[in-house]
Amino acid sequence: MFYMTVDDEIKLKLLEKRDAEDVYSILDKNRDYLREWLPWVDGMKSKEDYHPVIEMWLKQFAANDGFQVGIYYKEKFVGMVGFHEFNWGHKQTTIGYWLDGASQGKGIMTRCVNALLKYAFEELKLNRVEIRCGEKNFKSRAIPERLEMKHEGTIRDGEFLYDHFINSYVYSMLAKEWFEKNNKC
Ligand SMILES: CC(C)(COP(=O)(O)OP(=O)(O)OC[C@H]1O[C@@H](n2cnc3c(N)ncnc32)[C@H](O)[C@@H]1OP(=O)(O)O)[C@@H](O)C(=O)NCCC(=O)NCCS
Repeated sequence: MFYMTVDDEIKLKLLEKRDAEDVYSILDKNRDYLREWLPWVDGMKSKEDYHPVIEMWLKQFAANDGFQVGIYYKEKFVGMVGFHEFNWGHKQTTIGYWLDGASQGKGIMTRCVNALLKYAFEELKLNRVEIRCGEKNFKSRAIPERLEMKHEGTIRDGEFLYDHFINSYVYSMLAKEWFEKNNKC
């Protein structure tokens, strides 16, 4: 099974079917807060709904086309982060994430995204990593901004959330910017 150590407090793990209960219970506890920004929340109505989804994530990992991993903070499941897909032709990918509301404010997601940027540029040798955030999702936008990703522009009506469109802010980092930032030229 795929594991990644972010630091002493945070580990990332590819989810298995037996993790469905953990993911579902955190999602269910956070429904109102998560659905403000994520389009799939209402579709998840039981822990069984996660079985085909986890299977799809395992296949995605096996196909080397991205991965979705659980975030374990001090050994407890607190959210998810992942690469939506790997575009090997253009050497690029996008990152998505969500966190248990009570686990916000500790820098967990910033540390996870930084670890995924490192993995994308240094292990996978990708050239570009993108993050799209709702224009008014200031907590989400703060993550790429904190990590010095560049704001490239706005996709108008970039996402449909249940009954309305929102604009998407596009952030990216290129490999050369990662290596400059980390003094690895
Ligand atoms: C987006 C989301 C993950 C942001 O969570 P978050 O807790 O604000 O982000 P982090 O875990 O990186 O924590 C950053 C906070 O911890 C603080 N912090 C503490 N230690 C830190 C550290 N070592 N490094 C960075 N920040 C740290 C920061 O100052 C910041 O606090 P502030 O918001 O008061 O300024 C969360 O709000 C969420 O899941 N929202 C719903 C789903 C969503 O919007 N997903 C994204 C769709 S694009």
